[in-house]
Amino acid sequence: MKVLLVGSGGREHALAWKIAQSPRLEALYCAPGNPGTALLGENVELKVDDLAGIVQFARSHAIDLVVVGPENPLCAGLVDELTAAGIRAFGPDRAAARLEGDKAFAKELMRHRSVPTADARIFDKYRDARAYIASRDHPVVLKAAGLAAGKGVIVCDDPADALIALERIMVNREFGAAGDTIVVEEKLIGPEVSLLAFVDHDNIYIMETAQDHKPVGEGDTGPNTGGMGAYSPTTLLDDKLIQQVQSEILVPIIDAMRTQGITYRGVLYTGLMLTAAGPKVLEFNCRFGDPETQPLLMRLRTDLLEIFEAVTEDKLDRITLQWDPRPAVCVVMAAGGYPGAHESGKVISGLEEAAAMPDVMVFHAGTRKVGNNVVTAGGRVLGVTALGDTVAAAQKRAYEACEKITWDGVYYRRDIAAKAIR
Ligand code: AMP
Ligand code: GLY
Repeated sequence: MKVLLVGSGGREHALAWKIAQSPRLEALYCAPGNPGTALLGENVELKVDDLAGIVQFARSHAIDLVVVGPENPLCAGLVDELTAAGIRAFGPDRAAARLEGDKAFAKELMRHRSVPTADARIFDKYRDARAYIASRDHPVVLKAAGLAAGKGVIVCDDPADALIALERIMVNREFGAAGDTIVVEEKLIGPEVSLLAFVDHDNIYIMETAQDHKPVGEGDTGPNTGGMGAYSPTTLLDDKLIQQVQSEILVPIIDAMRTQGITYRGVLYTGLMLTAAGPKVLEFNCRFGDPETQPLLMRLRTDLLEIFEAVTEDKLDRITLQWDPRPAVCVVMAAGGYPGAHESGKVISGLEEAAAMPDVMVFHAGTRKVGNNVVTAGGRVLGVTALGDTVAAAQKRAYEACEKITWDGVYYRRDIAAKAIR
């Protein structure tokens, strides 16, 4: 099978690594990929938003399967265009990807089916949103309705801060058009978990659980990021709760889309908060999580191409997912300053030493090759991921690997997975 993988982050390096292990693979191309994927296949200079270029490449290279990593091309309709060109693609079409791309749409769908989620109001006028927030005396969460790379959510413990955040989103337009519509939610309290599932026309197959660490600072402080680290599995969700999430959240949402003529095929990521009143949805994503994918795929034993093929053929019921029982921990090494302004082009040292450790993978995210050096080229630079017999052992190994790697201005949280060990 000739495969084209779209994307260039840590998630895509992990996907490429896992795809490269498949006996079905003939050739792997990554558009645009990163220095990590370059070791596993051929990087192709195509931007993820160059839909026509991607379709053209897939056609001219007789690609059998296109795997779309990030949300932007999914929401822009890449899978629709590939399908129209007769090319098989893994990922939801544009209509289904709206579940992530339009938080107001997702909220309304959940409300319609009584899916447990934070109470929310939706505004597209600054004045109305302002009046509503000013009338609240409880903490609120402001969300730009469109795509904002995981940064468009601002949790405001003090309603006065919410007015400032509102101005940032709707007046200063910090997230551009993504903030033209805003969702104002009640703040939920509880631990968070990520539950990813493969979905085809007839089946929902839930993967092992994972937990992300969104805030930039230790102890979950500071602004939200795309994710500073993750581990799998988490003991927070037992089988009974997973069943409950399946029947109260996943089935009604997939079904609600179907009644609108939308078939969901791909990975459905549900961000959950485990509140005193049960699990509630924080968000849906229409793709693998980043960095959850890094520890999840290190644990997955089943051939990923076999799974992707089954999803595109609505044959998920013929698949059995097999997992390494050992936990995995991924620590994101970031550029100092992220998610705010940060510098690029810093030479990274120690990559090979870290990658040589047993049961360790150093997944590239924001990196670039300059001559013989690998340099930083983004906020989240690397996802250092390790397996261990216990979460504590995996954590220890991941941090040992991190210590071998450095660059000018490196930053990472030292408490990834600490919650699972305490
Ligand atoms: P989202 O991208 O919607 O998952 O939001 C990013 C992060 O903001 C989540 O992982 C939570 O930590 C936090 N968050 C989002 N919505 C809420 C909420 N209603 N209550 C509390 N925290 C929230
Ligand atoms: N880790 C959060 C996300 O992928 O959106």
